[in-house]
Amino acid sequence: MHIFRDEDANLELVQNKKIGIIGYGNQGRAQALNLRDSGMDVLIGNRSDTYSQKALEDGFFCLSIKEVVKRVHIIMLLIPDEVIPNVFDQIILPGIRDKCTLVFASGYNIAFKQMVLPNNIDVILLAPRMIGVGVRENFLNGRGYPSFIGVEQDVTGNARQIALALAKGIGSTTFGAVEVTFQQEAELDLFTEQCFGPAFGNILTSAVDLLLERGYPPEAVLLELYMSGELAYTFQKIAEMGIVEQSSLHSLTSQYGSLSRGMRFLAPEIRERMLEGLNEICSGEFAREWRAEQDKGASSLTMMKEIARSLPLHKLESELLEATGKPRPSVHDSEKNVQAETISFNRDIDTVDSQKNGKFLAGWSFQGLVKDFLNLHAYRNKGKGLEGKEYQVVLQRFLNKCESDKNLIQFAAETKICIVYQIEHPQLIFFMQFGDRKIKTGFGEPQTEADIRIIMQADLLDSIFTRQTNAMRAAISGKMRFHGDTRLAMRVQKIQEDLCRIYIESRN
Ligand code: NAI
Repeated sequence: MHIFRDEDANLELVQNKKIGIIGYGNQGRAQALNLRDSGMDVLIGNRSDTYSQKALEDGFFCLSIKEVVKRVHIIMLLIPDEVIPNVFDQIILPGIRDKCTLVFASGYNIAFKQMVLPNNIDVILLAPRMIGVGVRENFLNGRGYPSFIGVEQDVTGNARQIALALAKGIGSTTFGAVEVTFQQEAELDLFTEQCFGPAFGNILTSAVDLLLERGYPPEAVLLELYMSGELAYTFQKIAEMGIVEQSSLHSLTSQYGSLSRGMRFLAPEIRERMLEGLNEICSGEFAREWRAEQDKGASSLTMMKEIARSLPLHKLESELLEATGKPRPSVHDSEKNVQAETISFNRDIDTVDSQKNGKFLAGWSFQGLVKDFLNLHAYRNKGKGLEGKEYQVVLQRFLNKCESDKNLIQFAAETKICIVYQIEHPQLIFFMQFGDRKIKTGFGEPQTEADIRIIMQADLLDSIFTRQTNAMRAAISGKMRFHGDTRLAMRVQKIQEDLCRIYIESRN
């Protein structure tokens, strides 16, 4: 194990060089301020926007990216990864100086071959394992924070030493820097985002769901599980003491309970899913898919965010935050979110502009939400479900209507997909096949293989299609199971409203 500390780095190596910080957002501002406080000569390169104003207010010289590139020896790319390839090709590359140093804060674009580098420059990685605010705060309080450093091209023979000097300048080697390849940094980062994070999130939402089903007060459930901040505090202690030793901060009952019950949750299936995710990342499949998604304006991302926001849990959280006097900051108030929501993937870099998508769902009430939660678990008792033959008649009517519905035909013009609904109690299978502006439906298995298979009980299908139960929640709670391509399944959400409308017409 090797960790680079302050004593391994020599600030003098970069003190006589002009450093250009491209971008003054989360990382750009924090790193620029830290480097200036470490005695470096820093210049900001930014397009004219609120970030460039902020740089001026902070007392920096701020010029266009093109002008900065001409003047500096070290270029630190601190703009979003999605826009780096275009900005680099169109603005930076034409003016780049021989033997200068190009610094990335993420390995993504190099690891997944999103851009081509000239071979006459040093290319290094300096990727803090810390959000921008933390980069500044931990510099000021002297604690430091970890970073990954790496060398992709070393034409001067000094690339590693420059990476270390910059790591020291931004305050990272006080804690420690670790050397990795660009590939390793990018893959680890995506693994955390795509495998560990969602697996953890699903465990959390399953716990919320179970406890609400058992009738615990929603505000108590959310506070107990994560919204008190106790979980975040425990994670902080895990970072400081390690998983086992931090348990001594908890009661003996807690220690005995968690150690004696922990084995029950060893789920090899989660590991398999993580491996699937890691393979998608390492093969470049994810990067190709994300590129294609950006090229079409990231419409699926917008849709998935809307679906996530439509979950009752999202609204329950808002209710709790308001009740505790800390209303959720809207996307417009939260600095990070404004950025996330304003990145457009327009290929024309100068017209990249805000595409604010602050649509929040309104018109909910606390009582209504709890009802919505409980609805899923009570649907069987409603006594209004359709029985046997009647059920099949409704479904037949529904499928016939689907075949001639103009919204669905439009969907079939854009999407090729075969969905199989496997109904349990009473046992029944029906399919809907979309493609070439046509919808083919029928009972039993289709002739082609299903892209997605959705398995649930008849009364749950009825409850979802009559808009009484949220489909995403049904999936989270395990009452609706799903096999197949998740991304295609998300696309079906586009027509879920139409399916509900047609189903309700057929049922009436
Ligand atoms: P950010 O989203 O805060 O970047 C905003 C900046 O980018 C602004 O200065 C804005 O003017 C500029 N910008 C946005 N679109 C532009 C365009 N089309 N053309 C020119 N300039 C444009 O970026 P953030 O989050 O600081 O990320 C920067 C780099 O740091 C990325 O490589 C990221 O992966 C890496 N990183 C980010 C971390 C974080 O906490 N956000 C943590 C570690 C690494």
